[in-house]
Amino acid sequence: MIEKIVSLSKRRGFVFQSSEIYGGLNGCWDYGPLGVELLKNIKEEWWKAMTYREDVEGLDASILMHPKVWEASGHIANFTDPMIDCKQCNARFRLDTLGDAISEKKKKKIIRAFEENLSEENKNKVDKIYKIHSELDERFEAILENKELSLKLLGEANCPNCGTKGEFTEPRNFNLMFKTFVGPVESDDNIVYLRPETAQGIFVNFMNVQNSSRQKLPFGIAQIGKAFRNEINTKNFLFRTREFEQMEMQYFVKPTDDKKHYDEWKERRISWYKALGISGEKLRFHDHPSDKLAHYAKEATDVEYEFPFGWGEIEGIHNRTDFDLSKHQEYSTKSQQYFDDEIKEKYIPYIIETSAGASRSFMAFLINAYNEEEVNGEERVVMKFHPKLAPIKVAIFPLVNKDGMPEIAREIESELRPYMKVFYDSKGAVGRRYRRQDEAGTPYCITIDNQTLEDRTVTIRERDTMEQQRVQIDELLQLLINRLK
Ligand code: GAP
Repeated sequence: MIEKIVSLSKRRGFVFQSSEIYGGLNGCWDYGPLGVELLKNIKEEWWKAMTYREDVEGLDASILMHPKVWEASGHIANFTDPMIDCKQCNARFRLDTLGDAISEKKKKKIIRAFEENLSEENKNKVDKIYKIHSELDERFEAILENKELSLKLLGEANCPNCGTKGEFTEPRNFNLMFKTFVGPVESDDNIVYLRPETAQGIFVNFMNVQNSSRQKLPFGIAQIGKAFRNEINTKNFLFRTREFEQMEMQYFVKPTDDKKHYDEWKERRISWYKALGISGEKLRFHDHPSDKLAHYAKEATDVEYEFPFGWGEIEGIHNRTDFDLSKHQEYSTKSQQYFDDEIKEKYIPYIIETSAGASRSFMAFLINAYNEEEVNGEERVVMKFHPKLAPIKVAIFPLVNKDGMPEIAREIESELRPYMKVFYDSKGAVGRRYRRQDEAGTPYCITIDNQTLEDRTVTIRERDTMEQQRVQIDELLQLLINRLK
C-alpha cells in the first residue's frame, strides 16, 4: 500500500524525493504541484480551526533562536536518542527501535540465546520484565531499556543490515538537533540550532503576545512552521523525516483549570481530523502511562492514525504544566508571571499543548483518501479527499476542441479562477480526463458539450458518486462555493 502511495505521489506530483537527480537526500521530501496545494489546504484548515477564535492568537517566530532557549528547554541535555552502530558495516540504529528491524523468528532466537547466559541477578530482572510484558516485542523493547541487559541482548543480536552477530557498539546518546553558526566565524560561541519544534518560539513570546493582544487567561498562541530533527532512522515515507512542518498551539491556563482544558482540547483535536474525512475507526488516542511521560509533562496523549504499517502518532497533546515558562524565567531572568486581576494574584500559567505534524497528517490524509474501485470492469484509482483539502477543486473540459466549446470553457474558467484552484483540460477522451482528475482527487468536473451550445447548461460530475447533474452556467459559481464550504 505504501509503495502504491509513493508511486502515485511521484507520478501525479504530490511528493518527490529531495534532490532526486543526485540520488536523493535521506529523510527529506519535496512537495510537487498537487502536494503543495494539499499541504497548504491542511495548514489553512488548521489555521482557521485554531485561530479564528476569540481566545487564540497567531505567531510566526524565526527558526533560528538564541542558543539559551535550547538550554532552558532541556533540548541540549535531553533531546537525544540512544544509538548503536554495527562495527562490521557501520549501519546505525536507534536502540529503542532496533526490534522493528528484526523479524519475529529472529527475535525469538536472540531472546532464547540471551536467556541461556544470564546470572541469577539478571534472571530476576528479566523475570520482573516478563511479569509486566507478555508480548515478544514488548519484552524485547523492555530488555533494551535496561542498561546491563541491553548489552547482553546486543551480544546475541544480528545486525539487521549485514547479519553480523554481536558486533554492536555500546549505546551512545545522540543529540537530534542540527547545529549551524551565525556570522562568519565557526566557533562554539556562534553555535545556533535549527529548531526541533516550533513550541519554544511560542513560549518565549508569551509576554509579547499577551501584552500586545491584551488577552486574558485562558488563551492560546498558534504557529505553523518548519522543524528539523537529525533522526537516526528515517522511515515510512513522510512519517519520520529530518525536515518537517508542525502546527502547534500552546494554550495558557490557570493551573487549577488544567485538566478541564486538556480534556476539551483532546476532543477538539480528534474531531478536527474526523471533520476532514478521516473515519473514527482509523483514529484513536494513545494515553501515555505515567512512567513514560516526557520530563515536562503531567499528562499526555497521542492522536494516532492507523497507517498501513500500524498505528502511528499524528499529533501529541500534553499538559506541560508551568515547566516551560518557569525554565525560561529562570534562564532569561525575565518574569513570565501573569497577573490574574480576578483573584489579584501573580502566577506562571500552565500550558496545554496541541502539537500536530503537518507533514505527518498530510500522509494520513493522503492514505485515507486512496481508493481503488472497479467501474464497468475497469479499475479506477480515486483520491477521495475532503473537498476542502482537495488540491484542485474543479476541472473544466470542453467535450471537443471546436464548435465554440473551448471558448465557453475558457469563459467559465476565468469566472471560477479567482475563487478556487481550477484545472483546464481539453485533451483526450473525456473518460480518461475524468480518471486523471479522480487520481488527483478533484471533487468536481464540468463538461461543456453540444447541449451547452443550445441552452448554456453544463454537466457537473461528482468524483465519489460519479453522478452528473446539468446546471446553468450562471449558477455554477454559487453552487460550487456552497459545495466547497
Ligand atoms: N512540541 C512538542 C513536540 O514537538 P513531538 O511529539 O515530538 O512533540 C509533535 O512532535 C508532532 O510533530 C508529532 O505528532 C508528529 O506529527 C510531528 N513530528 C515529530 N517528529 C517528526 C518527524 N521526524 N517527521 C515528521 N513529523 C514529525
